[in-house]
Amino acid sequence: MAYRALSAALGLLLFGLFATPSACTPVGRGSLEHDVEDLLAINKRQGGVFSVLGVVGLGDKTVHPRLEIRELEKNADQWNVYLLGMYRFQNMNQGNKLSYYQIAGIHGRPYIPWDGVNAVDGGGGGYCTHGSNIFLPWHRPYLALFEEILYLNARQAVLEFPDGELKNRYNNALTTFRMPYWDWAAAPPAGEGVMPWSVQRPTISVVLPNGTATIPNPLFSYTFRPISRDDFVDSPWTTFPSTLRDPSSNEANAASRNDLVALELDRMRSNLQSRVYNVLALQHNYTEISNDRRPGDSIESIHDVLHNTLGSDGHMSYLAYSAYDPIFWLHHTNVDRIFAIWQALNPDSYVVPEANPYSTFTAAANSVADITNLVTALHPFHRNDAGDFWTSESSRHTDVYAYTYPELAGLNPNDTSPLVSKVNTLYGPKPTRPQQTKRGTSTIAGAPNFSGQRQYIADIKVHKFGLDGSFNVYVFLGDTLLADEPLGGSDSNSNSNSKQWSAAPSFVGITGFLAQNGVTNVQKKTQEANGAVPLTAALEAKMRAGELRSMQEDVVSAYLQRNLRWRIAKTDGQVIDVDAAPGFQLSTVWAEVEPAKSAAEFPKVKGEYRVLIEATDGRPGGFHTGD
Ligand SMILES: *[C@@H]1O[C@H](CO)[C@@H](O)[C@H](O)[C@H]1NC(C)=O
Ligand SMILES: *[C@@H]1O[C@H](CO)[C@@H](O)[C@H](O)[C@H]1NC(C)=O
Ligand SMILES: *[C@@H]1O[C@H](CO)[C@@H](O)[C@H](O)[C@H]1NC(C)=O
Ligand SMILES: *[C@@H]1O[C@H](CO)[C@@H](O)[C@H](O)[C@H]1NC(C)=O
Repeated sequence: MAYRALSAALGLLLFGLFATPSACTPVGRGSLEHDVEDLLAINKRQGGVFSVLGVVGLGDKTVHPRLEIRELEKNADQWNVYLLGMYRFQNMNQGNKLSYYQIAGIHGRPYIPWDGVNAVDGGGGGYCTHGSNIFLPWHRPYLALFEEILYLNARQAVLEFPDGELKNRYNNALTTFRMPYWDWAAAPPAGEGVMPWSVQRPTISVVLPNGTATIPNPLFSYTFRPISRDDFVDSPWTTFPSTLRDPSSNEANAASRNDLVALELDRMRSNLQSRVYNVLALQHNYTEISNDRRPGDSIESIHDVLHNTLGSDGHMSYLAYSAYDPIFWLHHTNVDRIFAIWQALNPDSYVVPEANPYSTFTAAANSVADITNLVTALHPFHRNDAGDFWTSESSRHTDVYAYTYPELAGLNPNDTSPLVSKVNTLYGPKPTRPQQTKRGTSTIAGAPNFSGQRQYIADIKVHKFGLDGSFNVYVFLGDTLLADEPLGGSDSNSNSNSKQWSAAPSFVGITGFLAQNGVTNVQKKTQEANGAVPLTAALEAKMRAGELRSMQEDVVSAYLQRNLRWRIAKTDGQVIDVDAAPGFQLSTVWAEVEPAKSAAEFPKVKGEYRVLIEATDGRPGGFHTGD
């Protein structure tokens, strides 16, 4: 197979890089481990505690923006420094606690202590907090840790260049370097897809001290060195030698199908745009936007659908294994960016004490998390030599880690109108190019303009761990899916068909539930999670197409009754009958909206959301009279 031949060629290349004795081994490991040990020694105390300080820990306190990956790529020097840093980082010995492997392993498997932070009674799983009010702050020091060690590796790579102009340029590139994010919700540059080519290509070109070379792309996958059966316990995770996206099989020679993932992302992007816009422009309560436990949309729920789609039954779609895929870091940096923008727009709403149903490695189920106390520490991230941990309070502002985001750089906190304008430009109402599909122009549109003064959303709730793995709920507005795909909730058990659902002209959007298999805890299995698929933009498009008379609730209700469809598929494509999904319910809700008066304002929701009962009454999984 072509893929295997390529791997063999890469193996030879790697062997060449590592085995050739040379005065300046370009991406060697020996000297790197030595440097990391130095860093550890600097930070070492009695218990060997590592203070997670972000790039501040490397002596760089100046705040610089993390750039969108395509922007970073435009700066050839920073791009090269980034790739060399990622490559070295991934080649660190897996036994080192600052290796890519062990840092990725903090999130989920292996469920073992990191930096001496031990499990508690009643704890379980990895350290990451999900379905929790501290889901967003927890990932902040986590990303800062990754950024610091990435930066360190990049710096080491530059050190190996001979003195001269090129080295000076790379050192200069480092002074403002911060790790990039990938914006999967804004319209991509004209002619490009949502998923950058730089993360899809198996190899990539870099400049090494002795010239240009093609290396295995560190943004394409992480290759285990080697895979550990003890750490990863179950199949196929003990089988795959590298991280995979939409794996072609469960065998060791499975290939990533980034092309299929990219296609799915292109089809769902405009609905993601609506979701990001709704959260930033219309939702103002931190408790509600931070996690998926309450009806309506949240940053966590939006985050889940990306995990599921990027993984499509590969590493990203399993909580315990997701952080090994390098795209995890690009994705989560964007999640952190959306969080930071939301914070700037809503500076007074933040973590309030709340019990979280899921256990982590260091917290029992139902522990109350607030912004400061010990139980609520963002384990296992120490913040100083005394062994104190980061908390939601100390991680509240990104400046402490010496980074910001382009939309927030130089923002006067007393005047957020420039930020509102930027959010409107990136995610707000504007005509987006209609999507051409094989069967005509899709109804998918960008964010709504609320000219009908109404917002409509399909709210979905379900037991998150009820299906033994991650799954997606697809929402459609229209009579047919595809010609070869008869409509109905349970008429088909073919796994391949669900992969075509997003190609249907009637497709509106997906909400995903990131879970994992093998959960036996009853309480976990019955825990409700929520997601949303906004309908307003799609309904406005139906109006433009003459298929819907008005945005009035009675008209829309009758329209939805005839046209709204929903279906469920697991991330491997297996179709799940709506009735077989524990706790599943889809309800359509609406509210009056006051449209924005200018590009520097947001629309406003007036009053409460109300359920449009008739739209779903009497249908499997729908909200019924009396619910
Ligand atoms: C650069 O050096 C590496 C090993 O140090 C070698 O494998 C590679 O072929 C060299 N590249 C060029 C362009 O000379
Ligand atoms: C925020 O949402 C939570 C949960 O719905 C609610 O209990 C709380 O009162 C809300 N806070 C404000 C300020 O509205
Ligand atoms: C914001 O307003 C406060 C209170 O009026 C003021 O003290 C502060 O200097 C202002 N900040 C900026 C950056 O203008
Ligand atoms: C908003 O969308 C509606 C319905 O699609 C369209 O008729 C109208 O011109 C748009 N309004 C603005 C201000 O763009």
